[in-house]
Amino acid sequence: MITFSQVTKRYRGGTEALKEVSFTIETGELAILSGPSGAGKTTLLKLIAAIERPTQGSVLVHGQNVGKLTRGAVPYLRRNIGMVFQEGRLLFDRNVFENVILPLRIIGMPHKEAAKRVRAALDKVGLLHREKAQPITLSGGEQQRLAIARAIVNRPAILIADEPTGNLDPEYAAQLMDMFAAFNQVGVTLVIATHDPGLAARAASRVLHLRDGVLQA
Ligand SMILES: Nc1ncnc2c1ncn2[C@@H]1O[C@H](COP(=O)(O)OP(=O)(O)OP(=O)(O)O)[C@@H](O)[C@H]1O
Ligand SMILES: [Mg+2]
Repeated sequence: MITFSQVTKRYRGGTEALKEVSFTIETGELAILSGPSGAGKTTLLKLIAAIERPTQGSVLVHGQNVGKLTRGAVPYLRRNIGMVFQEGRLLFDRNVFENVILPLRIIGMPHKEAAKRVRAALDKVGLLHREKAQPITLSGGEQQRLAIARAIVNRPAILIADEPTGNLDPEYAAQLMDMFAAFNQVGVTLVIATHDPGLAARAASRVLHLRDGVLQA
């Protein structure tokens, strides 16, 4: 489902964030991406979602070479990929409900069905009672859950998450991991970057460890 073949990513300025990285993640896996700060975890996730393109090598998602997509094709790829990034990218001038419905509006889903989906997603992350709240009034952990609701509302086949437990206390981080494991059980393929692989080891079917842009054997 996700295959990297000899992928090198060099940023402008010369940093090699990934060096000849090759791996495959099969449909239905829960893969953990670990490694110290600067190892290339965020870069790897961005390549999956075509936010960045490889300098060399190929990234296949669902058999599609995502490094070679035209601008117009990228939104279609993203419909199948839910993304939770380090900086939540919430819209602070809209309430919780409006934040989550946005991806469904973009694809033109009728309001009634979209609203149903939004409430189901908010319920999954335990935020249904806050649907009218402004994001700024939510705690860090609640904002993170809001970002997850928005990422899953489209029922993507793949969910990528960058340090989703970063700012959370251990108990809540464990709950969030259980939530990811539950998504995985209904068939979602997950790729989760974390500094704390111990947390996720239980649920993971694969651990990819990066150091200085090199995938460790
Ligand atoms: N847009 C960019 N332009 C130039 N260099 C970048 C860019 N993004 C990342 N880098 C560099 O690429 C390397 C890998 O960065 P990346 O963000 O992928 O690491 P990371 O493993 O996610 O780190 P962290 O755990 O701190 O989030 C770092 O040396 C970083 O400085
Ligand atoms: Mg990162």
